Amino acid sequence: MIAIASDQGGYELKQSVMEHLKERGTEYQDLGSYGPESVDYPIYARKVANAVLSGECEKGILICGTGIGVSIQANRFPGIRAALCSDCFSAEATRLHNDANVICLGGRVTGPGLANKLVDTFLDTPFSGAERHQRRINMIDEK
Ligand code: RB5
Repeated sequence: MIAIASDQGGYELKQSVMEHLKERGTEYQDLGSYGPESVDYPIYARKVANAVLSGECEKGILICGTGIGVSIQANRFPGIRAALCSDCFSAEATRLHNDANVICLGGRVTGPGLANKLVDTFLDTPFSGAERHQRRINMIDEK
């Protein structure tokens, strides 16, 4: 199960990413927002972070205008590794190296075709499992 949410800056792209998820047979939970009205992106980033941390959803997709606000908020949650991606190399590398569990997209930055490829790459690339990468990930939440 994938958690997905956006603010108004990502609303349109979220609709198209959800259509893509449906087409590829990937189950998702739409955590809002549910219309193009102005809302506060931290609320939606928190919803996705909590859905992933509770284990209810395996991964998350967050979209705001730039992808930056939602990534800043999501990364405040220990255990969330949210990666803002606008290229497929990064989307693949962040799964292989960082075991990213949330991808952030910019609805005013990334077009729908590229967004679908980014989502596919993010969802279909496993973590490498390499000891050096796991060690570095473990360090992230250390004080
Ligand atoms: C909303 O206008 C915009 O600030 C938001 O979508 C996002 O880009 C914030 O980082």
